[in-house]
Amino acid sequence: MPIAAIDASRPAAARRTSLAVERDGFAALHGLFPLSLLRRLRAEVMRGHESGELRRRGLVRDVAGRYAAVLPFAGPFLDPRFYANARLLEIMGALLGPSFCIGSLETVVALPGAYRQHQHIDGPIRFDRQLGRRKEAFAGDLSRLPPYAVTLCVPLCEVTEDNGPTAIWRGSHRAALRARPPGEAEVARKYPMETMTGALGQCFLFDYRVFHCGLPNDTAEPRPVLMFVFTRPWFRDPNLMEVGPSLVIGAGALARVPGRHRALFRLAPASRRPLWDNKR
Ligand SMILES: [Fe+2]
Repeated sequence: MPIAAIDASRPAAARRTSLAVERDGFAALHGLFPLSLLRRLRAEVMRGHESGELRRRGLVRDVAGRYAAVLPFAGPFLDPRFYANARLLEIMGALLGPSFCIGSLETVVALPGAYRQHQHIDGPIRFDRQLGRRKEAFAGDLSRLPPYAVTLCVPLCEVTEDNGPTAIWRGSHRAALRARPPGEAEVARKYPMETMTGALGQCFLFDYRVFHCGLPNDTAEPRPVLMFVFTRPWFRDPNLMEVGPSLVIGAGALARVPGRHRALFRLAPASRRPLWDNKR
């Protein structure tokens, strides 16, 4: 059954979306971006996919027939209707507080024949202690913590049941930071699985802690999506520790970002004052 999507054009959209993410760990939206902009973003990603450049610059993480690549904020991705979409920033403020910033922008391309990904959460935070040889997990209740990172997934095509939709276990974000996180069977037993299908123009946000996975792409076409991550300013995604920069914008492009939006990019090297050059 298709997920009920919140109309992004309505004034109540930000409040409804943030409440849904807090309750369910995700929310679907439609009408956040103009279709003409989505088509330009798609053309840019498909150009990089077809030339092989994205694959060459892909992350080591390459799971179950789908690959991920960090995208630079250039060309159509520098359109403020994308990165500074007013409704999107309102939603992120409601979820992540006033000083949130962009964590990363990736594309994930599920190739024809991609198979089911393992169930996982993105970037868990842990408060373990190491006592000699013994690791001790923090046993306190972290289930009420607000989100620290939220991904906006923007499909660049229609997503159907058979071309690699994302499955999300509704409400499972509350269990992810337990001292002993639940296994796949417990998650599947306790939380309903929802499949994120929808026409081009529908997107969804999810809390980093919600259990999810990519489903198989049984069609002959690649399924490209954008994973646009926003974080509280102190969070760093452990999955991106191996690459640099994980947020890519050149100095010239950053200069074209309106001053009021420049803080969104403060994790990018171009917005930082270099103290030492890294050739030493
Ligand atoms: Fe994931």
